[in-house]
Amino acid sequence: MDHFLYKNGQLMAEDVAISDIAAAVGTPFYVYSAATLTRHYRLFSEALDPLPHNVCFAIKSLSNLAVLKLLGDLGAGMDVVSGGEYMRAKAAGVPGERIVFSGVGKTRDEMRLALTGGVRQFNVESEPELLALSAVASDMGAVAPITLRVNPDVDAKTHEKIATGKKENKFGIPLSKARAVYALAASLPGLQVVGIDVHIGSQLTDLAPFEAAFEKIAELTEQLRADGHTISRLDLGGGLGIPYTRSNEAPPLPLDYGALIKRTLGHLGCEIEIEPGRLISGNSGLLVSEVIYVKEGEDRTFLIVDAAMNDLVRPSMYGAHHDIVPVIEAAAGAAAQDYDVVGPVCETGDTFAKARALPQLGAGELLAFRSAGAYGAVMASEYNTRPLVPEVLVQGDHFAVIRARPTFDEILKRDSIPAWL
Ligand code: LLP
Repeated sequence: MDHFLYKNGQLMAEDVAISDIAAAVGTPFYVYSAATLTRHYRLFSEALDPLPHNVCFAIKSLSNLAVLKLLGDLGAGMDVVSGGEYMRAKAAGVPGERIVFSGVGKTRDEMRLALTGGVRQFNVESEPELLALSAVASDMGAVAPITLRVNPDVDAKTHEKIATGKKENKFGIPLSKARAVYALAASLPGLQVVGIDVHIGSQLTDLAPFEAAFEKIAELTEQLRADGHTISRLDLGGGLGIPYTRSNEAPPLPLDYGALIKRTLGHLGCEIEIEPGRLISGNSGLLVSEVIYVKEGEDRTFLIVDAAMNDLVRPSMYGAHHDIVPVIEAAAGAAAQDYDVVGPVCETGDTFAKARALPQLGAGELLAFRSAGAYGAVMASEYNTRPLVPEVLVQGDHFAVIRARPTFDEILKRDSIPAWL
């Protein structure tokens, strides 16, 4: 459920008309609904009650400071994967003890940054990383709380580019090596083992792979405890999928996911941590764009819009589907037409949809890409020197620009021409 509905023929973000935002901000832009973000965060938190738990928002999915402040104020923790994301979480006012540091290639500088500012735990992914973290923490006279991310060799049945839990993926420590690496961790100075971490992939629309992974984690917990380790925390990663089409998809709900966690892991007496990104942010955001031209090809009609692959890369990168809707609702029974919806970037891959049935649209009309809150703005670039797309947050009947569109001046000023040219 989200808060982007038609009212009197106008697409709204909560109580604000999208066309009013477009008039104030210009297109393209991302718009997020505070009510939807709040609702999705609470669904997860409630689904895990009464287990002791921590919902750490995967800020890689949507990292604007205003969004982090909103979720942080609700009590959310944050899952970060870089020094930059760590700085964002801190700048949004989230205390270090609610920040989990994930990622397969943490640098020593990033470790120092998090140990200085405070961190709930590092999710360590390899032996060399373990050795580096032990050295950095010991040098600082600090103790780094850690879990080891294990790779359960489970097929997440999702897009190959975002599946992470198979043994051929670069992530985590193979289950077969886990006990040995935990023994190494326990023997090193500057580290304190607190639990286990697992994350098998993103946009999972079936609970079975989660169940397979969680069963392996339950077994490993018992084994590691028998080996003498303290396992008080289980970080189960993120990955629960969202419906990208309004018609026929019904992925499992956070409530089902919570019930699965309780059933497979609830008896272990561990604190449960999860790292959802997409399910909190995905359907909380739209990308709004304006039609520049309608171009008649030989056998198709192109809708050339002012958003492009640099603003929303998911269709060209993963072949992802985003529902596209007009901002002014089509009259009941209005004629529909198939369009290839494309951006202005000089690549054929800059295609959002092929042969998509839409109400007839003309130049200057607005449309919205749905489910664009997650992995939208954060993956945007300035390819073709197109200014980074701005972001807007709506709450009730008001909105604010939470990241302004840069001017061409600001963009050009970032480059410098050496004196010897
Ligand atoms: N935790 C870890 C360690 C992760 O690697 C990820 C996502 C998450 C949590 C959050 O997963 P989520 O709940 O959002 O599924 N750019 C891709 C998705 C990449 C996901 C990367 N890792 C896309 O647009 O589909």
